[in-house]
This record gives sequence, C-alpha cells and structure tokens, in this order.
Amino acid sequence: MTTRTLNRILRTRTITRRFRAVAASAAVAILLLPAAARAQDDATSVWDGAYTEEQATRGEGAYERECATCHLADLLGDGIAPALVGPAFDFRWSDLSVGDMFVAIRATMPQGAPASLSPRAYADIVSYLLQRNDFPAGDNELPTEEAALNAVIIHREPPAPAAEAEAEAEAADPTVWDGVFTAEQATRGEGAYERECATCHLADLLGDGIAPALTGAAFDFRWSDLSVGDMFVAIRATMPQGAPASLSPQAYADIVSYVLQRNDFPAGDAELPSDEAVLNTIMITSEQ
Ligand code: HEC
Ligand code: HEC
Repeated sequence: MTTRTLNRILRTRTITRRFRAVAASAAVAILLLPAAARAQDDATSVWDGAYTEEQATRGEGAYERECATCHLADLLGDGIAPALVGPAFDFRWSDLSVGDMFVAIRATMPQGAPASLSPRAYADIVSYLLQRNDFPAGDNELPTEEAALNAVIIHREPPAPAAEAEAEAEAADPTVWDGVFTAEQATRGEGAYERECATCHLADLLGDGIAPALTGAAFDFRWSDLSVGDMFVAIRATMPQGAPASLSPQAYADIVSYVLQRNDFPAGDAELPSDEAVLNTIMITSEQ
C-alpha cells in the first residue's frame, strides 16, 4: 500500500469518526474542531503522490527524445542547459506550484521548438522530473489542467512526521483525560451528590460497606474501558437506591462530572452533556 493510499484511508476514517461525533454533539465537536479544520486543509503537495509510476516511465521516454540532447540523460545539464535535479531544481522551483513548472517548460522548451509537444507529453515529462527529484508516485496521474496543477505545491521538505502523529492523536475518540466537564459543573454535582447520594456512599465517596466506593481502585475496576455513557445510564437506572431516575438528566450529568473530578480526571471548557449518544463516545481510561 502506498503512503498516499494509507494517508487517504486514515484521513477518511478520521473524518467519518469526527462526523459521527459532530453530528452527535456541538460540545464534543468543539473539542475536535482544530483537527477537523486541519483535515480540510488538503492543499496537495508533491509529497502526496502527484503522478503515477507509469506516467513517469512514459515521461522518461519523452525526455530522452526531446530534452536529453541538451539536459543530458542524467538530467545534470550540459553546462549551458541547466541541471533539472538537485539543488538547481530546489532553487528554481521550491514553493512554486507544479503548474508554474508546467507552464514555464511548455512556453520555452524544447529550446527552439516551444509548445511543440502535447499537453499530456509535458505532464509526463514533469512527472519524470518529479520522480528524479525523489518525490513519491501515487495512484492518480498528474493532469494537464493548469488549475489542478497550480494546486500542487513543490515543497522541498516532506511533511514532518511529528505533525502527522499529532493529527492522528487528535483524531482519536475523546477520553475522560480530554477535559469533558467543567469545574463549575463538578461543583454543582457535588451539591447534588451530597443531597442524593452521600447518605449511603458517604461524603468521601468511599461507601458505607454496603454502598460501594465511587473512587480509586473500585472506580477503575468497575468503569475502566467503558464509556461515560455506560456510567451515566447505570447510575440513572439504579440510583439513588429506592428512587432510580428521580433526578433530572442534567443533575445526573453533574453528579457524573463530580465523580470524574474526584477520580482526578481534569476539568475542561465545555460541560458534560446529558445526551447519551455523545456520552457513549467518551471513554474512561485509567491511563492517559
Ligand atoms: C536544444 C537544447 C535544449 C533542449 C532540447 C531542451 N532544453 Fe531546456 N534549456 C536549454 C537551455 C539552453 C536552457 C537555459 C536557457 C533558458 O532558460 O531558456 C534551458 C532551460 C530549461 C529549464 C529551466 C527553465 C526555467 O524557467 O528556469 C527547464 C526546466 C528546461 N530547460 C526543461 C527542458 C525540458 C523538459 C526539455 C524537453 C521537453 C528541454 N528543456 C529541452 C536547452 C534545451
Ligand atoms: C439508599 C442508599 C443509596 C443511595 C442514596 C445511593 N446509593 Fe448508590 N448504591 C447503593 C448500594 C447499596 C449499591 C450497591 C448495590 C447496587 O448496585 O444496587 C449502590 C451502587 C452504586 C453504584 C454502582 C453501580 C454499578 O452498576 O456498579 C454507583 C455508581 C452508585 N451507587 C452511585 C450512586 C449515586 C451517584 C447516587 C446518588 C444519585 C447513589 N448511588 C445513591 C446505595 C445507595
């Protein structure tokens, strides 16, 4: 599988995953927005696989017939005709587009017979030049439309792997480590907990021996690798003991926020919603 195919799959998966979250909730969407905006910034670069192997091979044939007399078979030039690879290439074309290169070559080369080849032959030759400058091939041919070519930028350096890893990490589903409730909400939850739960689970959340502890090892054991939605639903369906589902969804979300806070998960900028679809996307993981 080519890097480009892989990138495309990852990107599609990321967008699908994000779309689900966005459709489910504005609150979670806010968490993910910076990454989503970046994924749309899809400006192609010569590092994305802008031509095919086959096209570059065709381009090599055309280059040998039309260009190699002056620029030589090794593309290093004859002293008058310049080199078309290496530092000379970078110096001339870095940060310009493949469209700029296509237009310049077509307008002036072969010397003495400019624009004498078909647009497709020029696109093939440009593909060959990209290949000889170590830019990767991909799944789609380099087109001849200038508008499309102008969108492909000749970056000298490949995209930083660190940036890709970061984008991947941001694309992952949210967890309780992402700040999924606010400090204010946890404070409201504390009040509700004291009124509705503390009689049995006690003010320190360690339980009375019959009602279990809601923090520490007992919390991890019961909730690790489940979702906040699972916890919300279980509490609402059974608690307060004797009066299940007697509080508002908002009050349950506030109490869950308080329980998360007491288990040392960080607060964030957006409140924990009471929408189960959204809560189901937030995973409880004991490790960050
Ligand atoms: C008859 C000799 C000759 C042939 C054939 C020839 N070139 Fe050139 N080429 C030159 C010379 C001389 C220059 C430098 C002067 C100039 O830019 O016109 C040059 C310049 C260039 C440049 C730099 C242009 C720029 O804007 O900086 C490129 C790229 C290039 N040639 C590509 C090609 C390609 C691709 C072909 C084949 C389609 C080709 N040349 C065929 C002689 C030739
Ligand atoms: C009248 C006593 C009592 C009150 C009030 C009470 N609980 Fe419980 N709770 C229990 C007992 C007993 C259990 C263990 C048996 C069970 O799971 O039903 C329990 C179990 C739990 C569990 C574990 C459930 C599971 O699926 O593992 C959670 C979480 C919980 N309570 C949270 C709360 C919260 C939050 C409140 C306040 C909204 C609350 N409880 C109010 C007695 C109480």
